[in-house]
Amino acid sequence: MSETPLHTDHLNRSSDSRTDYSFEELLDDGQYAEPLIANGVRCHGGFDEDGRYRSPRTRHRLPAIATWQAALQESGGELLEISKALIPPQYPNVDQAILLCRHGVRDPVVRALTVISVVEGFGAVIRDVKLPDFDRSLVEPIEGTALAHLGQGLFEAHARDEAGWGEQGGHKQMWEAARDLAFENPKIPQDVLMRIMGGGGRRARKRERLFPQIDETLESMIMMLSNVLLVEIFAEQVFSWGHAVLSNPEISAEPDRASAMVSYIQSDENPHVEYLRVALSELAGRTIRTVDDKTLPGREVVFGMLHALLSQMTRTRPEEQKDQAQESLHAALQGLENRQSIEEEFRSLETVWAPPATTGFEPLSAEL
Ligand SMILES: [Fe+2]
Ligand SMILES: [Fe+2]
Repeated sequence: MSETPLHTDHLNRSSDSRTDYSFEELLDDGQYAEPLIANGVRCHGGFDEDGRYRSPRTRHRLPAIATWQAALQESGGELLEISKALIPPQYPNVDQAILLCRHGVRDPVVRALTVISVVEGFGAVIRDVKLPDFDRSLVEPIEGTALAHLGQGLFEAHARDEAGWGEQGGHKQMWEAARDLAFENPKIPQDVLMRIMGGGGRRARKRERLFPQIDETLESMIMMLSNVLLVEIFAEQVFSWGHAVLSNPEISAEPDRASAMVSYIQSDENPHVEYLRVALSELAGRTIRTVDDKTLPGREVVFGMLHALLSQMTRTRPEEQKDQAQESLHAALQGLENRQSIEEEFRSLETVWAPPATTGFEPLSAEL
C-alpha cells in the first residue's frame, strides 16, 4: 500500500518458503549500520550501509507475510483489497494547512500532528486482542498461516512499532519528532488526549453484535483486525498530508528531515497492512463453526464486518474530523485582524468529497 520504496532485499533474498516462524524471529531487526535518531530520540529501525532506511522487526516478518500471501493465493484463496477511493481526505487539507501556517496560525496544524502521534501510540492495544480457540471455532486448520502467528509475534511487533518499546521510540515519538523539527518545538495543546478519549468514549458505546451466532471472542477479534486494517489504510491520506505539509520549506523549518521521518513511518506501516489483509483473507477462506455447531462461511463474517465498518467510517469520519478542526481553528483565529479574509480563503480551499456508493464488501443478504 505504501508509495515509499520499501527495503525489500530480505524479501528477494528469502529463498525458503517457510511458513512457520518463532516469536523471536518475527521481532528480529537484523543488524543496522546506523540507528535512527529522531530529534534526539533513539527510535526503532535504522539504516543499512548504503544509507537506506530499513523498518524494525522485518528481517523475517516481511518474507513471512509474503510467503503467507503467496500460499493463500496458490491455494485458490483471494487476498482482499480495500479500494483507495474509500479513503476520506485529511481535514484541513494540505493547502488549508499551509495557508494557516503562512499566516502564523500553526495551532490547528500542530494539533492535527499531535492527534496523529497520540493515535499511533494507541496502536499498542493490538497486543491485548484476545485470540479465540481457532481449533474449535474454525473447521479448517490454521498451521503455517498468518492467523497462527498473530499471538506469536505479529501483534507484539505491531504494538512495538506504533508505541515504541523500552528506550526505543516508535511511531508516536517519530511523529512528535517530525512535528517538533518542522515547527521548532511548538507549544503542544494539552487537551489532545482528553478530547480524543471523549470522542472515543462516545463511539465505543456498546455496539450490537453483528454475528451473535459465532464465538464472541472470534467476533471481537475479527472486528478489531478489520478496524485496525481500515485505520492503517486510511492513514495513507494522513501520510501524504504530513509529507506535503512538513516538506514545504515555506512553513517547515526542517523540510527534509521532518518529511523523511514521515517516509520512515510510512514504510513501517506496510507490514501492518499486509499481515492484517492476509489474516482476514485466511479467515474469509475458512468455515466458521457457530456456537450451536452449525457452519458459516468465514467470508460472510469478514466481508460483513468490513462493509459495516467502511460504511460507517466513510460517512462519519470526515465530519468528525472537520468538527474538531473547526473548533480549534475558531479558537486559533480569535482576535486576529485579518481573521475574516483567512476564513474566506480557508473555505475556498475546501476539498469536496463524498464516499463512493459501494464498499466492495456488500453482503449477499440484505439484512446487514
Ligand atoms: Fe503507525
Ligand atoms: Fe500501523
